[in-house]
Amino acid sequence: MAEFYNNGPTEEFPQDDNADQRVNFVFQDQRILDEACNLACGYCAPSGFPMRIDREQNANMPEAWRGDLKLLPIVDAMMPDKPKVADFFDIGRTVIAGMQEQAGVEILKLSGGEITLHSGLVDYVREVHQDYTAVQILTNGIKLTTEQIDAFGGMGNIYFQVSLDGTRPETNRARTPNARLTERVVANMRRISEHGMPIEINCVLTNRNTGEFSTMLDDLRGVGDIIVIPRPVRGGAKELMNCTPDQLATFKTTVLDRYAEYADLLPPKVYLERLVTMMEVGARTDRCYVPFFVQGVDNYGNCETCSCGGTLPLLGNVLDNPDEVFDKHRQEENYDPGADYDDCNYCMTQFELFNLFIEGSIS
Ligand SMILES: C[S@@+](CC[C@H](N)C(=O)[O-])C[C@H]1O[C@@H](n2cnc3c(N)ncnc32)[C@H](O)[C@@H]1O
Ligand code: SF4
Ligand code: SF4
Repeated sequence: MAEFYNNGPTEEFPQDDNADQRVNFVFQDQRILDEACNLACGYCAPSGFPMRIDREQNANMPEAWRGDLKLLPIVDAMMPDKPKVADFFDIGRTVIAGMQEQAGVEILKLSGGEITLHSGLVDYVREVHQDYTAVQILTNGIKLTTEQIDAFGGMGNIYFQVSLDGTRPETNRARTPNARLTERVVANMRRISEHGMPIEINCVLTNRNTGEFSTMLDDLRGVGDIIVIPRPVRGGAKELMNCTPDQLATFKTTVLDRYAEYADLLPPKVYLERLVTMMEVGARTDRCYVPFFVQGVDNYGNCETCSCGGTLPLLGNVLDNPDEVFDKHRQEENYDPGADYDDCNYCMTQFELFNLFIEGSIS
């Protein structure tokens, strides 16, 4: 993977003091406010998130997490006793600055938890967006206001990733039983599209939506620059929520046999072929190189082996021991594509497109 590491200035990353040290990534997958969300999706946090945010944006942080923070004194010192949502974002800004010192990043992806719970999100993004080719905001799409969407549209390099499993109450049910919330997400996507901002939809395939996947594509036709990227339900939720073989067979017909009909809304066909095969077999058989392109970082600066693999080891902390993190990258010791990680066993996300790219299956 050495060709992906930068050994000197390029047009995108001009010479600076750290240029010979810098490690390059396509994405920094930066999570902020991991602790809070306004939904309780069945496969993610069925009983909801324990941190409550009130009208004044006070963040009532569970004691256990407070205790965990003490293990990272550098971060603990930044967290007030009674934090507001903005305090989490301030720590996140320090983390982003720490990453900027060490790494060249093309796309800053921001997510949570649910990042739109911060009332000052627009100003926050305005402060950093020009440092990147693009900023991608991952959201459940419920709390976005038209004013926020319009402001993001004016920035010129923002695009959205919206999590939505279906456009109808039944097909989006694993995320919410509330039909009006689903309608609101779709309305917000229309508004985003009116600004010409592209949208990637994270669609988790469960027994609620897999057999009716075509309804979502039919409903979204003509709405905007939208691509729906289906992926399997993972982790413990798979046992409870995975689709049936019949549902998978219907999905296969929709995305493979009828690909030409829906091509504008779908990722390349090779992605869908690989996804269907993995779901039929029940396990991933292809190697994955995503950790060489994407650096996952949490709100406290912890750098992950893979932002999609929560149980893979941490590389270190960008605020506390950045040399350890980035030396692992330079030595290519951050991740072993040949290892048999549990998290990889049934994993496929939009980042699979990197694998298909380096394999030469897409250009
Ligand atoms: C944890 S959410 C955080 C961002 C934001 N709240 C949202 O829903 O877009 C990140 C992504 O992980 C997906 N996700 C959560 N649990 C999952 C699971 N068990 N299997 C597959 N994807 C999952 C969600 O659908 C979402 O697209
Ligand atoms: S909206 Fe996102 S973070 Fe919240 S429960 Fe659903 S998937 Fe998880
Ligand atoms: S298969 Fe998934 S969890 Fe494993 S390295 Fe790839 S993206 Fe990460």
